[in-house]
Amino acid sequence: MAGGSVSECKEYLFKVLVIGELGVGKTSIIKRYVHQLFSQHYRATIGVDFALKVINWDNKTLVRLQLWDIAGQERFGNMTRVYYKEAVGAFVVFDVTRTSTFEAVSKWKHDLDSKVKLANGDPIPSVLLANKCDQMKDSSNNKTLMDKFCKDTGFLGWFETSAKDNINVDEAARFLVENILSNDQGLPHEESNGDRIKLDQQTVAAESKSGCC
Ligand code: GTP
Ligand code: MG
Repeated sequence: MAGGSVSECKEYLFKVLVIGELGVGKTSIIKRYVHQLFSQHYRATIGVDFALKVINWDNKTLVRLQLWDIAGQERFGNMTRVYYKEAVGAFVVFDVTRTSTFEAVSKWKHDLDSKVKLANGDPIPSVLLANKCDQMKDSSNNKTLMDKFCKDTGFLGWFETSAKDNINVDEAARFLVENILSNDQGLPHEESNGDRIKLDQQTVAAESKSGCC
């Protein structure tokens, strides 16, 4: 009988960035992941949008992912430092049908690593998403190159995704969260002002700083 057992539930709030060039599908990936929706219609994000995904990670762990959907045009602005603040993970997205968006990946990655770090000074975990794979003609010879690219540029890994056909979106998110959690467990927990907040079941903790941007 389970009666009387006290279940200790951990809750986490992670700020995760989604960055990459204009029109690569950042908003679409988030919409697919959070709302199971897709639209062909393109409306460029202005500045930044937010979405929250709540994951029942296991029976003792709840993860809230605060997804920051940063407009592609922001690479040329000077707000990214503000947007990146206190993020604990990132997706960098490119469009497999447009080489220029892949070429920009290193620029985004560099921007990211130069502006945000984990508390221990390491780069925040990041995953590369090769989106719109539903439109890809031949992917067979990419694997080794992409693995090497990730190693050289400091990505944890990469996934071919399609927001349209719902390919690998959940898998990529799971992979990133696993990494964030493993960093988190390796670090001492401080009741801090960060986005990484651990709560006891009964503890009412401050919500993330809202509307700061
Ligand atoms: P910005 O907000 O301007 O930075 O663009 P974004 O990266 O948020 O792109 P968005 O999600 O708005 O998608 C741009 C266009 O690509 C839209 O017309 C989407 O329907 C389309 N799109 C996004 N993901 C996919 C995909 O996986 N496959 C296909 N075929 N089209 C996609
Ligand atoms: Mg967008």
